Amino acid sequence: MELLTHDILIVGGGGAGLRAAIAIGEENPKLSVGVVSKVYPMRSHTVSAEGGAAAVIKPNDSIENHIYDTISGADWLADQDVVETFVNQAPEEMIQLEHWGCPWSREPDGSVAVRPFGGMKIERTWFAADKTGFHMLHALFQTALKYDNITRYDECFATKLLVHDGRCLGVTALELQTGQLLPIAGKAVILCTGGGGRIFPFTTNAAIKNGDGMALAYRAGVALKDMEFVQYHPTGLPGTGILITEASRGEGGILLNKDGRRYLQDYDLGEPFDVTSPEHPRKRTMELGPRDRLSQAFELERQKGLTLKGEYGDYVHLDVTHMGQKKINKKIPFVRELCRNYVGIDPVHEFIPVRPVIHYMMGGVHTNVDGETPMPGLYAAGECACGSLNGANRLGSNSLTELLVFGARAARAAVKYTESLGDFPQSELLAQAQDEQARIRERYFKPGDGKGKESIAAIRTAMNDTMEDGAGIYRTDESLRKTSEILRELKERAKNVELADHSLSFNTELTAALELEYMLDIAESLAHSALARTESRGSHQRTDHPQRDDDNFLKHSLAYQTDGDPRIEYLDVVITKWPPGERVYGSK
Ligand code: FUM
Repeated sequence: MELLTHDILIVGGGGAGLRAAIAIGEENPKLSVGVVSKVYPMRSHTVSAEGGAAAVIKPNDSIENHIYDTISGADWLADQDVVETFVNQAPEEMIQLEHWGCPWSREPDGSVAVRPFGGMKIERTWFAADKTGFHMLHALFQTALKYDNITRYDECFATKLLVHDGRCLGVTALELQTGQLLPIAGKAVILCTGGGGRIFPFTTNAAIKNGDGMALAYRAGVALKDMEFVQYHPTGLPGTGILITEASRGEGGILLNKDGRRYLQDYDLGEPFDVTSPEHPRKRTMELGPRDRLSQAFELERQKGLTLKGEYGDYVHLDVTHMGQKKINKKIPFVRELCRNYVGIDPVHEFIPVRPVIHYMMGGVHTNVDGETPMPGLYAAGECACGSLNGANRLGSNSLTELLVFGARAARAAVKYTESLGDFPQSELLAQAQDEQARIRERYFKPGDGKGKESIAAIRTAMNDTMEDGAGIYRTDESLRKTSEILRELKERAKNVELADHSLSFNTELTAALELEYMLDIAESLAHSALARTESRGSHQRTDHPQRDDDNFLKHSLAYQTDGDPRIEYLDVVITKWPPGERVYGSK
């Protein structure tokens, strides 16, 4: 085994990872950067983001407005210093991206176009039709290609953090083509591996989103913060979970129950408005409420028997027919393409079936505003991190901007940190890598006796089901205890998974087994954090504790892995200028 070394190692080749890699080149092009990604970077999940990225650009908007929308959207669980930093840096990052080639859509006068988005009280979401993530990732990828100091390890799957003397110094990564385990050292490591929506059954998340980076940090003793807060996006396609972007509602789409009623008017989200009036879409009510509220309204509507029944559970209708073919083709062409390909309907003429699906994890690896974790040398950015920007509910279109702002900030902090570091402890790191190789071989490549053989798929399905049943839109003490218990059993059962495939090259059965272990770890942290939070806030709704409880829970949860159940601790939320208040949406 040969130790591969870099000044800074980035794990994850999506938006946050590539932005971080570029930022290192901008700071000091002499530093060597390694980017480890389990897929080719353009296949990272950022590519599938649709609706847009938020930043203040128009004269009718203000930094103050964006800060307030983010804080109230977060149900006051965001750290306000972090929100202020984010909102202030967002515009320059977005303009920078245009200079790197991102084709932002335009107004007729040539200025950047913005659209309304959920929970934002003014339109501030920049977009590139409804393929924003594709264009952003493309701009980042082609810019990263200019830097000779970046070495890519595409299709390499990180299995463990290398930690020496309490400092993070690299990872071991399975090279998927050869099956070899690579020890890759970095004086600093930045985790940019995205979220873990695949622990739930219906999700917009790609199959690669298994919480890898979160689990790596958790296993190394770093806390996962605010894991109980997980976002359902109100409009996913039943069955596949494919995202039907919020932009379809921003551009005028309305939600209808089985009787054709705009049911959101019954849930304190404002009055219905005439979608054909010239004022629309400047009215930001009802369908443009925040995602947590809309998903909860769906669930209550379902309990009243007012949703439609389908092969994949209950759903409602999203109606964009009044927008007409021309506008649909211009503003949301991808929505039309997805509907035609995946549900066989044309939204120009027909209603789109939609249901809430898991979309985003507000929680993640505990970091500060510079992406630093409590472990020296370990940083995180993007969805895998929790820098406390999003609190209890993220506003749509903040996350694409988040990965730019915090990818760059984490990189700059890592550059500074590495300046004072000397050589790698080569033999210690190699010894750890050899142990990891032995662990994987022993665990997965030793023929078993066939007794107690468990299937990956069966355990994954049981995990998905219990997450939706017990830790979904509404939760109780009983449901969360049951889910936690089932997850404990599933972790035991996972020890008996045996692989049928012992080949080395592209052994997808092996990666599925490793991903299952990651998912079970983060699912456990989520269920226990949710169990301990006996209040309702944002996306975390406890029917047995229906009120927000600022006296006891204006706090971030920190979940630490132990040999038994996770240990949950708390950390105060940072309040600067905006004392906790009521979240008001609709026309009030
Ligand atoms: O609906 C959407 O386009 C999602 C955007 C986001 O999550 O930021």
